Amino acid sequence: MVFEIQEQVDLTPYNSFGVSQMAAYFADIQDPSDLRQAREFAALNRLSVLVLGQGSNTLFINDYPGLVLYMNNRGRQMLPGAGMLRAAAGESWHEIVRYCLKNSLYGIENLALIPGTVGAAPVQNIGAYGVELDQFFVELEAFDLKTGEIRHMSKADCQFAYRDSIFKQDPGQKLVILSVTLQLALEPALEIGYAGLADVLAGQQVTPQSVFDAICAIRSSKLPDPKQIGNAGSFFKNPLVSKAKLLSLRESYPELPAWNTEDADLVKVPAAWLLDQKGWKGRRRGGAAVHEDHALVLVNRDNASGEDVVLLAQEMSSSVLQSFGIVLQTEVQII
Ligand code: EPU
Repeated sequence: MVFEIQEQVDLTPYNSFGVSQMAAYFADIQDPSDLRQAREFAALNRLSVLVLGQGSNTLFINDYPGLVLYMNNRGRQMLPGAGMLRAAAGESWHEIVRYCLKNSLYGIENLALIPGTVGAAPVQNIGAYGVELDQFFVELEAFDLKTGEIRHMSKADCQFAYRDSIFKQDPGQKLVILSVTLQLALEPALEIGYAGLADVLAGQQVTPQSVFDAICAIRSSKLPDPKQIGNAGSFFKNPLVSKAKLLSLRESYPELPAWNTEDADLVKVPAAWLLDQKGWKGRRRGGAAVHEDHALVLVNRDNASGEDVVLLAQEMSSSVLQSFGIVLQTEVQII
């Protein structure tokens, strides 16, 4: 395909919230070598650059005045090391999970049905049901928009943390992820400790396939499908609080759940639980709403603008701050 930069492109199909904002310039990148031309175009016209996969963690609140690079390169390849798979950034993450299962490569079953692309997975170090991407991550290839060179980045280079990595910060944002290499296990290594997962599996043989099926069933029952109703999964991160703070909160809220973290002084508490106490499920502001079944998920109920969603999110976080003294941070990137 001839490389082309389009002008004034409606981003509705390119963000899972389905909000309508325009990109001044837009390029569908199927061949990573086109990034050189895209970089020159942006430099010449002094444009900022935004990299998008399926836009499943992005909320647009304004038109984007620069160049959007829609990463749409495909390909998967087994590398010489046993269980080592390289996948192109534009591949669908869920399809890679299915491909691994079919080819007896194990470990990422719990990450089934996470919307988005392979290239987006390291940006927020996707995680679910006790498993995080960084456990399987070997390296990635990225195009450096500053220098025009290809970089190979190790796990340490990526600075992974809970829903975070160097790609969410500057200078990381100048890097366009082209492919990701994962090390999968050749023998099943199942993680079924997450609350609720073992219950769904009760009475069944626990195999990679049954865990994959259980994860798909749990996600489908709790989380809305972005193809049916616009959303970006969890809107906020689960906050970390000190153990002292947890004890004082539990005087008023003895049921407040909490999980230990690597830091002995800090626990993670579910933002959904805090929001649920404040009655947020199902509430609406303009076209935006909180999902009826999950208080952490904001949805585009009826032609919501990005601003509707953000205003609702601000009200939600203020109510949590007021009642619990906890600051919620957004997980979704607001552009
Ligand atoms: N809960 C409520 N009310 C609700 C929803 C949940 O009280 O409306 C309670 C649940 O009972 C449970 C706790 O909150 O005690 C946690 O709920 P859940 O298991 O649904 O997980 P979560 O903490 O809300 C996180 C991730 C999800 C991931 C699940 C499963 C974050 C921000 N979110 O959600 O990831 O799928 O755990 O591992 O860490 C995403 O990042 O977009 C995402 C969906």
